[in-house]
Amino acid sequence: MYFLFGLLLLEIIYAVFLVSQFYNVIIKKNAPLVTTGQTTIKKIISELDLKENQTVFELGCGRAIFLRTVEKTILKINLVGVENLHIIYFLNNLFLRLIGSKIKLLRNDIFAVNLKDADIIYCYLFSETMKKIGDKVLQECKKGTQIVSRTFSIPQLQPEKIIVIENKRVFFYKMEIVNIDKKAKKW
Ligand SMILES: C[S@@+](CC[C@H](N)C(=O)[O-])C[C@H]1O[C@@H](n2cnc3c(N)ncnc32)[C@H](O)[C@@H]1O
Repeated sequence: MYFLFGLLLLEIIYAVFLVSQFYNVIIKKNAPLVTTGQTTIKKIISELDLKENQTVFELGCGRAIFLRTVEKTILKINLVGVENLHIIYFLNNLFLRLIGSKIKLLRNDIFAVNLKDADIIYCYLFSETMKKIGDKVLQECKKGTQIVSRTFSIPQLQPEKIIVIENKRVFFYKMEIVNIDKKAKKW
């Protein structure tokens, strides 16, 4: 009886997940949930200038693996994940609380969250979203903020470096050396 109830619950969760993914991708034109692998995350972290008391954002955090890896690397750091899908947010938040993580999860759209306190931003989104992300970081981020985007470049910004990790380009930006590219060149 309990087994059947558990199975039904899992099926309901999976159906809700599929419907919300469909809505997010097809209707809202947002990125689907695809998780960045540990090898990529560890390499990215090794390239970043991470320090205690910084604030790190993962925009469209999904399972927040990037933040979870940072948390294991530096204990005294502020970690904020932003995720718009209720089902992903709910399951991930539950999991993070169970493992005693201090990551703060926000159930919100990326574009509704202010990034003025961000020292580091990680995102793995969609090409269509990156122009808007560029406008947002130029408006809100302070000098020195490091921004990392997997696969998709930010057209208005000049990358500090581009590294290929596991066959995908990863773009590193730093707000103090940002050059606004008027032609919105695609990197
Ligand atoms: C490609 S996945 C990346 C997940 C995670 N950052 C990683 O690299 O493993 C993109 C995630 O961003 C979320 N997302 C897409 N557009 C969003 C938006 N506008 N606001 C908040 N979350 C968004 C999706 O639901 C999905 O979980």
